[in-house]
Amino acid sequence: MRAESPILYDENTKIWDIFLYEDIIQILKNPKVFSSERRNNNIPTSNSIIAMDPPRHKQMRTLVNKAFTPRTIQSWTPHIQANIEQLLKKINDKSEFDIVKTIAFPLPLTVIASIIGVPYSDMDKFREWTLSIVSGPKDNSKESIEENTKRMYQGFKDLSNYFSQIIEKKRSHPQDDILSVLIAVEEDSVKLSDKEIIGFSILLLIAGHETTTNLITNTMYCFLEDQSVFNQIKQNPDLIPKAIEETLRYRSPVHAIPRIVKEDIVIRGQTLRAGDEVALWIGSANRDKNQFDQADEFNLHRTPNSHLAFGSGIHFCLGAPLSRLEANLVLSELVKRFPTMQLKDKMNIEPLQSPLMYGLKSLQV
Ligand code: HEM
Repeated sequence: MRAESPILYDENTKIWDIFLYEDIIQILKNPKVFSSERRNNNIPTSNSIIAMDPPRHKQMRTLVNKAFTPRTIQSWTPHIQANIEQLLKKINDKSEFDIVKTIAFPLPLTVIASIIGVPYSDMDKFREWTLSIVSGPKDNSKESIEENTKRMYQGFKDLSNYFSQIIEKKRSHPQDDILSVLIAVEEDSVKLSDKEIIGFSILLLIAGHETTTNLITNTMYCFLEDQSVFNQIKQNPDLIPKAIEETLRYRSPVHAIPRIVKEDIVIRGQTLRAGDEVALWIGSANRDKNQFDQADEFNLHRTPNSHLAFGSGIHFCLGAPLSRLEANLVLSELVKRFPTMQLKDKMNIEPLQSPLMYGLKSLQV
């Protein structure tokens, strides 16, 4: 697609698909023409930061940055390690296990829930509501898709009601968590409304969950797919952060991000009209040979590595340092504890059925 149709209007989806690194980076740096705003009253995250344009986006980002300073994120290390320890305890004596099910899936949810401020006693119902939002349809049939939408809207409703109650509690009894910071935070006399705090908390859950699951799984897959990579990592675990960056490029957890055209604009001879929808294929940009040498090879020593896996510009992923930290801690522990780990069945690796995300259904080792 990059060579033959770098910009393509898809008649089925009615969306412009954009594939080249250079074009995508220009678009991400131009929020005036390429808007992130989209509204859906059933989805509380549709008026959260990821779907805002300037100047409201800037105000909101300044507020929420206060809950995500590098120092705060680093301070979560012992907590993440404790969660990893708990999950690994369950597999210590097993000779075979699934990386996705046992660790890559449960870890990010437990971590983000406790960082937001969900009490441990509520974790089970909280997990259930979150799963109803993120699980996706059973198959592509109309019934499954409708059933999934219904379940998802109900999950949003349950989570919103739940957050309303705990926001009330935290207002009178603030604790050391993101909800308490967001309730207290004030910038240029602008405070967040309860609705905004709820939308943001649900966004953190959704944006931070499956993406980090995929990052952990994809990186482990890159290690085990080629034993020479795994051997290098075992000999030098300091390479793990570089391996995570290369996985973000080579097997990007998020493949595409949306924008809406605000003013008519011409790109590579194609006219995009105000109101048109655009899909920016960052997974494709990350394999663009005009940007990366040997783009289709996994290179542990790639420098520089200016991938777009976390986006670019004003909406650059807020949770990037958290997901890097989580992935680094869990992968370091897995490599240390299971140095003889191997893929159970190289031929049976099944990717997720998702056009927008890249991950694996399971990774049996
Ligand atoms: C934004 C990817 C983990 C929270 C984004 C964007 C991408 C992305 C591509 C830009 C979206 C756009 O421009 O429209 C990823 C990947 C992750 C990850 C690949 C893991 C490997 C997380 C985590 C959190 C998080 C752990 C929360 C704790 C957010 C938020 C935004 C965002 C709040 C919106 C920022 C803004 O609009 O200013 N992420 N994300 N993400 N991400 Fe992540």
